[in-house]
Amino acid sequence: RKRVRVHHLQQLKERGEAWPMLTSYDMYSAKIFDEAGIPVLLVGDSAANNVYGYESSLPVTVDELLPLTRAVTRSAEHALVVADLPFGSYQASPEQALTTATRFMKEGRAHAVKLEGGRRFAPQIEALVSAGVPVMAHIGFTPQHEHGLGGYRVQARGDQAEQLLEDARAVQEAGAFAVVLEMVTAEAAKQVTHELRIPTVGIGAGPDTDAQVLVWTDMAGMNTGRTAKFVKKYADLGGILGDAATRFAQDVRDGHFPASEHSFH
Ligand code: KIV
Ligand code: NA
Repeated sequence: RKRVRVHHLQQLKERGEAWPMLTSYDMYSAKIFDEAGIPVLLVGDSAANNVYGYESSLPVTVDELLPLTRAVTRSAEHALVVADLPFGSYQASPEQALTTATRFMKEGRAHAVKLEGGRRFAPQIEALVSAGVPVMAHIGFTPQHEHGLGGYRVQARGDQAEQLLEDARAVQEAGAFAVVLEMVTAEAAKQVTHELRIPTVGIGAGPDTDAQVLVWTDMAGMNTGRTAKFVKKYADLGGILGDAATRFAQDVRDGHFPASEHSFH
């Protein structure tokens, strides 16, 4: 298998084949997901909550995300690695966006970047694409704009669906190779997916998008707290790891570890 490229994702849309995407923030998850055939890995700014322990994605910085991006690109042989541009690192201007994206491509060795926002960020998308940086857009509920959007709520309900469609068309026209639709009604996501030439990647957007993305720590049960309605839990890694740690602790306390076979004689 060769490296996944953006045109492969376009071909999958044309063939009507759905594709999966997962976040990844480190070597082991990147290797495991790459070997499992996940074609696109996202070094999401959700590392804020899932690596750094922040309460939202807003505080995480470029300098915090770059080493995680580098770890993932070093470890994934086939997957296309997309790096999220964090809050405050692209909003000011197309120039700022290009400066930040360049760091993710040069220092992080990312293959593409993702930024949040529709119409209003078309100039940023255009600047990156013309500089040779593939851009994945992200519209609907955009966590970096949580405070402006009035909290975590489903977008594109009723007559707001038209706004979502306008944002989707704008990011496509600006040159985005794909667009994430987060927490929007299944009906609106279906319509956007049908109208766009580029692939849509849903999260909390129903079954009709071209691709689906989940935060890996949610879907694998590393996150033992409350998760959103749209998360499906495929494993209980948090439970498995907790159990391993508990049994190790018990063995040490009981003198059962190390045994003779773990010792040098
Ligand atoms: O940061 C992230 O994990 C994301 C995905 C949920 C799309 O942006
Ligand atoms: Na993100």
